[in-house]
Amino acid sequence: MKILLLGKGGQVGWELQRALAPIGELVAVDFDSTDYCGDFTNLDGLADTVRRVGPDVIVNAAAHTAVDKAESEPELARTINALAPAVLAREAASSGALLVHYSTDYVFDGSGDAPRSEADTVGPLSVYGATKLEGEQLIQQSGCKHLIFRTSWVYAARGGNFAKTMLKLARERDRLTIIDDQIGAPTGADLLADITAHAIRTVRARPDLSGLYHLVAGGETSWHGYASFVIDFARKAGEVLAVQEVAPVPTTNFPTPAKRPLNSRLATTKLQDTFNLVIPQWQSGVERMLTEILGE
Ligand SMILES: NC(=O)c1ccc[n+]([C@@H]2O[C@H](COP(=O)([O-])OP(=O)(O)OC[C@H]3O[C@@H](n4cnc5c(N)ncnc54)[C@H](OP(=O)(O)O)[C@@H]3O)[C@@H](O)[C@H]2O)c1
Repeated sequence: MKILLLGKGGQVGWELQRALAPIGELVAVDFDSTDYCGDFTNLDGLADTVRRVGPDVIVNAAAHTAVDKAESEPELARTINALAPAVLAREAASSGALLVHYSTDYVFDGSGDAPRSEADTVGPLSVYGATKLEGEQLIQQSGCKHLIFRTSWVYAARGGNFAKTMLKLARERDRLTIIDDQIGAPTGADLLADITAHAIRTVRARPDLSGLYHLVAGGETSWHGYASFVIDFARKAGEVLAVQEVAPVPTTNFPTPAKRPLNSRLATTKLQDTFNLVIPQWQSGVERMLTEILGE
């Protein structure tokens, strides 16, 4: 099985390089790769890459993920998040390849407090959410075999992340104010990559399982709950922190160009039942990541 991975340098792309390597012959590409075009603003170049590699599976980890910046560059966000994935889908449909793609809880409006299922009504609040939704729809309309995983609050040990920012601030300041009215599940890029590898093998044997799935860690928390967990864990691990108070505040205290959903809960029943998986609670992945970064 030949696998073409696009966006290999991102949080999820980096973990996919690890998780996909043992299941096929992997060609991994980034936006500035020299052998193949991996630039999502070059739609012809992208199609050429797929044709030259001739993959059985295309995995797209590239995206315009700068949620606030997308508000002021909607055309670029649309090209990267919708038009480029549509090119991949068109190529996959004509060659019979499986396309794996990632989407987001930002396709929903964040109302209420129930976890959203794959069948629930969408209603993005931001350019990022709208362009990611269009990407999903164009893939679905192409008729290609696909796996679309909607996820949320992605972190990885490599690069910057929310936990690292909280640790830095907790070392420097005695009081932090953290949003407590956005609820979701911090989800490790490693978990996403491992489940992707498992699902690819399953869908290759069972193409009828092609479709849209919610993929997030188990449980739920707020950014305030997440920050408090990180700080408690670090203290117990012996870190010397200046912070004395982690104060909960509403989203309205931090105005941003892009509106974010308050309810980011995603139900993973369909994924767990279809692929016979047990999704771990968010705390276990965050503890692993903290153990890695605190040991640095
Ligand atoms: N991060 C989250 O919290 C989150 C939540 C829900 C869903 N998702 C989805 O999960 C997937 C993976 O996200 P992630 O967290 O791994 O994001 P990420 O770390 O920002 O990775 C995205 C990658 O795409 C690359 N990219 C940007 N513009 C490109 C272009 N023109 N051509 C080719 N590559 C380009 C980025 O390169 P540069 O870094 O050099 O710009 C980066 O390597 C995405 O589909 C995202 O929408 C993420």
